[in-house]
Amino acid sequence: MASLTVQNISKSFGQAGVIKNLSFEVRDGEFCVLLGPSGCGKTTLLRIIAGLEEASGGTIVIGDRRVDTLAPRDRDLAFVFQTYALYPHLTVAENLAFTLEVRGAARAEIRRRVDETAKTLGLDGLLARKPRELSGGQRQRVAVGRAIIRHPKLFLFDEPLSNLDAALRGEMRGELARLHKRLGATILYVTHDQAEAMTLADKIIVLDRGAIQQTGAPAEIYHAPANLFVAGFVGSPRMNFAEGAVNGAGLFIGEDCRFDVSEMLPDNVKRGDTPLTIGIRPEDLTIAADGPAAIEGRVEIVEDLGSDKFVHVASAGRGWVARMAPEAPLKPGGAVRLRAADGKLHIFHSGRRIGR
Ligand SMILES: Nc1ncnc2c1ncn2[C@@H]1O[C@H](COP(=O)(O)OP(=O)(O)OP(=O)(O)O)[C@@H](O)[C@H]1O
Ligand SMILES: [Mg+2]
Repeated sequence: MASLTVQNISKSFGQAGVIKNLSFEVRDGEFCVLLGPSGCGKTTLLRIIAGLEEASGGTIVIGDRRVDTLAPRDRDLAFVFQTYALYPHLTVAENLAFTLEVRGAARAEIRRRVDETAKTLGLDGLLARKPRELSGGQRQRVAVGRAIIRHPKLFLFDEPLSNLDAALRGEMRGELARLHKRLGATILYVTHDQAEAMTLADKIIVLDRGAIQQTGAPAEIYHAPANLFVAGFVGSPRMNFAEGAVNGAGLFIGEDCRFDVSEMLPDNVKRGDTPLTIGIRPEDLTIAADGPAAIEGRVEIVEDLGSDKFVHVASAGRGWVARMAPEAPLKPGGAVRLRAADGKLHIFHSGRRIGR
């Protein structure tokens, strides 16, 4: 295995800059997830690293070898595509063996590796089948098998689970996590599914419009989002936002809310007229039983998921969503007073997170 270093990579299609001077590193053995919305350049970036697309400048290093000048097959990496790309007329065993065969491996070695890979992925009983005789999850496993059989230095995964149903996706997520542990593999994994990113990653890189928004451990991305984009993109239901300003007493006043931020505001932010945005996650809104409420509104909709409830609160502003325990005594039409759990408020100035 090896580390991956990407430096100053840019890419344009015609006039449109799709990747904008990206630099990042994936450490040896790290599971790194590239997370971002559709069209932000994730696949393009993987294809550049794999050598399937040419960048306009920059360098790519795998281990201690510069690879951006090398042909794709000499880069010693494996690419698992979203579409699996299995050969329909070949059996599972032949699909697995294919990449070794084209590289001229000895027959006995190929057989040994096919058996080993099949055992690792639980494909032992399926080796004689054709892809069309497999379920989605099994096909997915064969696609992963074709990647790991070569023992490459680096794995690139492009949304490998997005074709599967929710249950299977959860199951395969667990399998990938175990596989990563066992192989100690270096992985760059692309997804727009934040649950996948949060559960699989050692490190998440959040991408928007071809630029890195934040890099960090999942907990860091979730609890200390660097800017409004990351705060709004990660988390479901989405973080609640309100615009307003802080008065002389350190009270944030929005259209339909007020929060005491006197302890949180950095000294360099002027009180009085500085426009700010505050953010609060649905699970951090609680009922203000007594004492001052930050928000007063009316329950509009209650989505009961069994394990918890999403309570939509209508107010004078754009409304709020709170995530509450199933026994929370809230009914549509009822009045509700909310406050923020201690220390759970986020403050943004010009789109960037500030505060202590
Ligand atoms: N060959 C191409 N020619 C022109 N534009 C392209 C080409 N390939 C990609 N693009 C554009 O580049 C942008 C990034 O595409 P890319 O496929 O990398 O997005 P993505 O992040 O992988 O999205 P998704 O999550 O939908 O797969 C998109 O706006 C896309 O339309
Ligand atoms: Mg893509």
